[in-house]
Amino acid sequence: MSVLIKNGRIVTAESDYFADLYIEGGSIAAIGKNLSYQAAKIIDAQHKLILPGGIDPHVHLDMPFMGTFSSDDYTSGTRAALFGGTTMVIDFVLQTQGDSLMNALKAWQGRSSGKALCDYSYHMAVTDFNENVAKEVVHMIEQEGINSFKTFMAYKGALMIDDGQMVQLMKVVKENGGIVTVHATNGDMIDSLIAKNKSEGKLSPLYHYLSQPEVTEAEASARFTDMLHYTSCPGYIVHMTCEGALNAVRKSTLRNQKLFVETCTQYLTLDASLYEREDGAKWVMSPPLREKKDQEALWSGINQGLVQVVGTDHCPFTWEQKQMGKDDFSKIPNGHPAIEHRMELLFSEGVHKKRISLNKYVELSSTNAAKIFGMYPRKGTISIGADADLVILNPQTKHTISHTRHHMNADYSSYEGFQLTGKVETVLLRGELAIEKDECLIQPGFGQFIKRGKTSLTI
Ligand code: URP
Ligand code: ZN
Ligand code: ZN
Repeated sequence: MSVLIKNGRIVTAESDYFADLYIEGGSIAAIGKNLSYQAAKIIDAQHKLILPGGIDPHVHLDMPFMGTFSSDDYTSGTRAALFGGTTMVIDFVLQTQGDSLMNALKAWQGRSSGKALCDYSYHMAVTDFNENVAKEVVHMIEQEGINSFKTFMAYKGALMIDDGQMVQLMKVVKENGGIVTVHATNGDMIDSLIAKNKSEGKLSPLYHYLSQPEVTEAEASARFTDMLHYTSCPGYIVHMTCEGALNAVRKSTLRNQKLFVETCTQYLTLDASLYEREDGAKWVMSPPLREKKDQEALWSGINQGLVQVVGTDHCPFTWEQKQMGKDDFSKIPNGHPAIEHRMELLFSEGVHKKRISLNKYVELSSTNAAKIFGMYPRKGTISIGADADLVILNPQTKHTISHTRHHMNADYSSYEGFQLTGKVETVLLRGELAIEKDECLIQPGFGQFIKRGKTSLTI
């Protein structure tokens, strides 16, 4: 379909100007003043912002975890993403310990194939490193278009690898042009605190938070950056929550390391006081929500260039699933629904409240993820030849988050009652009108798996 978008304010990571956009064959064909192409669809974007489609590099769809599956599958999760202006997600394939990466990839392909509405890719989580896995890492980069390898320094017995495996993985990934990403918390410390709290009968959701103090994340983040330094491997810390971890990254900048940081909307906007509520299980996630001082540190870290990406760690569970841990916090499935609200929350809390500039907003929500994970400039910007993944956002519209209106498969919202300024109105994915007037106009299967190139690390 050909589309002409008139009179909009186009914002990328580097620029901010008024122009028309013409889209043909799924990509951006022309940008200029007063364009007069004959188009099948004409959109008037006066007083609106035209932004690159959001990229959420941290989601878990239909993921087997803690005795259940995250409650959004590829259809409901990617539809909700589009409603919120996210046109591409990167999910995590989890290797089963003792099994191959390939078998894990096949399992995830089975759950995603023909079901996605937005574009998607995978990070490959290496939970058990050995010689065969080293060969598979090369295969993933060269043949499957997967260049990012996720590691867990926690969840012992299920997902955690030890430091010896970590260093070996980093060496192989570095040699082959990939990047190692990490859930950086000290699993042994956390497990011993969980055991201690449980033995003392401390079983409420508050003890999930108290079993993962800031030091557990700060220590693991520092250890990870030291191992990266030792191996010269590029790295990316996912879902960073706190000042202590950020300070480890600050140190790595003195060594000029290739290290990138993601935080998530919840760590910028919610705090640990929620664990004292009766329904505190809703916010049981790992790492947990932190303190107000950590929110301030993260916003500063963004503006200091230490934090490059804002994701969601979308890993939703219904309230019934959360009840698996009603008598024991350690059995509450970890995660929360978030994929839909990232772009609007970050706009409202960031740009509208003047914490970040519009260009920084685009960097954090789209461009930097595209660059770090090898999709730029096809994704993450507005330029001739790029995929026409676009968001038209009205910066003035006020609205309130409610689970009664969201599209995620979760019967509550972590952000219930949040008042936002700025609303996603129209979304295009590869030139196709995906969201208009609060309706989704595309079908499951439209979303494509995007093979990624080698990491382009200069951001
Ligand atoms: O609580 C979380 N974050 N659940 C998903 C798995 C992970 O650690 O990212
Ligand atoms: Zn994690
Ligand atoms: Zn996660």
